[in-house]
Amino acid sequence: MTDLLNRLRLTAAPMEGITTVVWRRLHAEFFGAADRYYLPFVTPTTEPRFTERQLRELDPRVNGPLTVIPQLLTRRAPDFIWAARALADMGYTEVNLNIGCPAGTVTAKGKGSGFLREPVALAAFLDEVFNAQLPIAVSIKTRIGYADEEEFSDLARLLSSYPVATLTVHPRLKTDLYRGSVRLSVLERSLADITVPLAYNGDIVNEKDVVRMAERFASVPGGLVEVMVGRALTADPALIRKARGGRPASLREITGFMEALLDEYTVHWGNRMNSFKRMKEYWWFVLCMFEEDSAEGRDLGKLAKDMFRARDEARFRALVSELTETHALRTDARYGWFKPA
Ligand SMILES: Cc1cc2nc3c(=O)[nH]c(=O)nc-3n(C[C@H](O)[C@H](O)[C@H](O)COP(=O)(O)O)c2cc1C
Repeated sequence: MTDLLNRLRLTAAPMEGITTVVWRRLHAEFFGAADRYYLPFVTPTTEPRFTERQLRELDPRVNGPLTVIPQLLTRRAPDFIWAARALADMGYTEVNLNIGCPAGTVTAKGKGSGFLREPVALAAFLDEVFNAQLPIAVSIKTRIGYADEEEFSDLARLLSSYPVATLTVHPRLKTDLYRGSVRLSVLERSLADITVPLAYNGDIVNEKDVVRMAERFASVPGGLVEVMVGRALTADPALIRKARGGRPASLREITGFMEALLDEYTVHWGNRMNSFKRMKEYWWFVLCMFEEDSAEGRDLGKLAKDMFRARDEARFRALVSELTETHALRTDARYGWFKPA
């Protein structure tokens, strides 16, 4: 098993607004770099150039020595093709296609997992992309279907008929959003049809889950090459380090990382208030690293609610201190990513 784990890439999932350039750089500095960081999606338009805003994430200079894979969200092959060529010119060796995003605003336009509803159009798109002789490898991130588990066997065969560098599967339907359990048996049933390298993504919470998935999907013909982690890595930034045999995050590391994010976002945006607001997004995940019960403290749910409502940094800091003084840090995250209403 250790052998299999050592051969696996352990990577950071793309998370819009979370796994930004600021987070990536600091994550690598504090906890050691993930084998890859997938960039939150960029939507190329018919105008064949990236915007200044997009370049803030895409410019290879801002990503330094990290291995980053840009991701594109589009259903127009010409737009994918110009953007992939531009990324190759910037020095990237792989680009990821997003056909998994379940957001209504995205799927309504037939993009993201909305594309899964139109297998004929998807095949035409992929024909055009893979016939374009792109100077860059193309990987794909998908769900198992739009609304029905039965969709996956055809989808797995379709996607495996192209030279996809890695096929990342999040085993939920578009209609599941992020609710309910991952549908592992659906992925399992189609393993024989996945003849391209497979990456698993979904509901990994700790390093034991990484091992479990590595064991469960090891028999895929194309090989299981990667486990990609999203929310749990935001909650427990030491997760990959632990899976590699390293130590869990200490309280000092967690609070230091959070402080550094706040400061770096302030520099990045030139605005402390926006930076402070963004920190709440991270803390909702990081709260899952703290025990719910506390002998002398308040219920974690109530404390979280107050943190979410805090209007200013001083109040928020006081609540973070209360949290860290009264609730013990766990070595693994709890599954319970939530935002108090
Ligand atoms: C806030 C948020 C933003 C996300 N942004 C993206 C994105 O830009 N591109 C993408 O392919 N997936 C995106 N995802 C999905 C994640 O990459 C991942 O597939 C999902 O969180 C399930 O994996 P996990 O259980 O390890 O978190 C996002 C998810 C969340 C919660």
